Amino acid sequence: MNKVTEILNIKYPIIQAPMAWITSAELVAAVSNAGGMGVLGPNAGQTTVTTDPIETGERMRTQIRKTRTLTDKPFAVNYMIPGIENEGANELSSIYSDAILKVIIEEKVPNIVAVGDMNETVIKHLKALGLTVIYRALDPTIESAEQAEAAGADIIVATGFDEGGGMPSQSIGTFSIVPIIADSVSIPVVAAGGIVDDRGFKAALVLGAEGAYIGTAFMVAEECVTADICKQDIINTESTDLLLYKALPSYWRATPHKLGLDLYEKSEQGVSVLEIAKLMKGTQGPKIAQLDGDLDNGINSVNSAISLIKEIRTCKAIIEDMVGGEEF
Ligand SMILES: Cc1cc2nc3c(=O)[nH]c(=O)nc-3n(C[C@H](O)[C@H](O)[C@H](O)COP(=O)(O)O)c2cc1C
Repeated sequence: MNKVTEILNIKYPIIQAPMAWITSAELVAAVSNAGGMGVLGPNAGQTTVTTDPIETGERMRTQIRKTRTLTDKPFAVNYMIPGIENEGANELSSIYSDAILKVIIEEKVPNIVAVGDMNETVIKHLKALGLTVIYRALDPTIESAEQAEAAGADIIVATGFDEGGGMPSQSIGTFSIVPIIADSVSIPVVAAGGIVDDRGFKAALVLGAEGAYIGTAFMVAEECVTADICKQDIINTESTDLLLYKALPSYWRATPHKLGLDLYEKSEQGVSVLEIAKLMKGTQGPKIAQLDGDLDNGINSVNSAISLIKEIRTCKAIIEDMVGGEEF
């Protein structure tokens, strides 16, 4: 047992990271059943967009209840800390966050993954509601980690530039940020960004983390709703072929297809991040590629370690390989 497995009451200190559109009840339950902790992300289990906050909450309620029919193990729900309100990041708007939080409380989900800029009032509020709080800053800093600890957070995620999805604005890799954050707090830290196998997991522990927070590697899990063509794209693309471009909130990485190439070129030409975020269609860009399977008109956003991902496997196989027989 280590601090993370103890706090979350799980077998292995592996948290499946929330990923817009592709972290449905089936994936979450499969991760939790395999001994890690699954997390329902924004749009979990959905195929269509809703802009109605009540509908957003009710959709999450359905996914929470479905997860409970598939596992009796702990899981969590992603809560976006309200912050930037603009066209490229409207999921950070408080109307959606409030709706999700209401459902988390009503459905008595004990664990929450709070993501966004540090806000001590929000963390204290989540703690006062009796939740176990895992806090992830989009841009981890010593100051925000200390504030999260002081506000009562239970676990901190230290995310490096290697990650998939919307990336940090600071180009600090996982190997650097994990020990920096781990040294700054006494609550446990889990490492995020580019961890896809047993070597990455072991390295995270050596760097001072007490667990890992994994997104991209679970995109190719059998139980993940990622489109098959997108899973194959991850398996067939080398890390060196990935495109990096600027869009809201900071940077995105994509496999090289039509829209990604276009956004990359525009980014190189200095087109504004707001304009690029619009062309990317916000979180619709990843949905079109990753859920609908249209690689040319969407964005397959992944981490920098995809060369190491070679096959589609179950969550159980991914997790067991990652921990390499180690007991916690
Ligand atoms: C396709 C994709 C979508 C993501 N969407 C979200 C999201 O909706 N909310 C969030 O907090 N993080 C999101 N992330 C970031 C992950 O939660 C996590 O920080 C990241 O995947 C960890 O790095 P890794 O991909 O190298 O494992 C996303 C990541 C990916 C790959």
